[in-house]
Amino acid sequence: MIVDVQKQILKLKKEKDICILAHSYQAREIVEVADFMGDSFKLSQLATTVPNKTIIMCGVRFMAETVKLLSPEKKVVLCNPLAGCPMAEQMDKELISNLKQMYPNYTVVAYINTTTDLKTICDVCVTSSSAVKIIGKIPNDNILFIPDCNLGDYVAKQLPNKNIKLVQGGCPTHARVTRKDVETAKKLYPNAKLLVHPECTPQVVSSADYVGSTSGIMEYAINSDAKEFIIGTELSILEHLQYECLDKKFYPLSKDIICHNMKATTLIDVLNAINNTGGEEIILSDETLKSARICIDRMIELG
Ligand code: 13P
Ligand code: SF4
Repeated sequence: MIVDVQKQILKLKKEKDICILAHSYQAREIVEVADFMGDSFKLSQLATTVPNKTIIMCGVRFMAETVKLLSPEKKVVLCNPLAGCPMAEQMDKELISNLKQMYPNYTVVAYINTTTDLKTICDVCVTSSSAVKIIGKIPNDNILFIPDCNLGDYVAKQLPNKNIKLVQGGCPTHARVTRKDVETAKKLYPNAKLLVHPECTPQVVSSADYVGSTSGIMEYAINSDAKEFIIGTELSILEHLQYECLDKKFYPLSKDIICHNMKATTLIDVLNAINNTGGEEIILSDETLKSARICIDRMIELG
């Protein structure tokens, strides 16, 4: 049954000239029908290079919006309109405008996991893979970083010369992982390398052998000579790695690292989006496209 739906999707996307992008937190059966799988920024960059006029994004809303920002001439469809990122939606423009007034000499840096509306008033955007490099290149040492305190804390530790102010916010999925989970996993798998996403708490991040984006974690595990890994990010990464590296072993840092928003998208949603009976086309006004693009362009310039 799954295979039949996958065959239909593969046939239809070719006929209709559609490119399907899947974030690496998507389920295996979706990744298998996608043209590309990757982290949030890699996918939006890839979207600019493909010839297809329609892109279906299997991920969460801010990811589809970022694709639209970078490819405004393309039709971009969020596969399941209910898939949002709670962290991206934690802060609104009013809060950030007030903070900008309180800290006028600070450069406002937004993690890409923010709404497009919020990006319109931020100075520079970063991703988990580029945050340290980009913030390190910003001439102003005073940085107001939103919305993820854990990623912000990680960056601050790598860049001690920067004065990085954090605002309360973060990913509820990665926040579930505790120091106890680290202790338990290390006891169970003493030879395994611990790879974690910087959205985890500082206690978890400080115990890791590698800290990086979803693509970074996958690349590290694939290229490493080590044979066992504890994965500290969404469980789908673990499954994709198991298929990629049959000779290696992957263990979850916690069985609770499941992002329900990422998992809202099903294979049938993909079929419905292709058939125009589901999904939601991302529409952004010219003004929003222009203002939100500024912080994305600065990210590309500095990255
Ligand atoms: P990446 O940019 O590493 O893909 O992370 C996106 C995300 O939502 C992690 O929780
Ligand atoms: Fe958002 Fe966290 Fe889910 Fe990533 S894992 S999409 S940051 S809620």
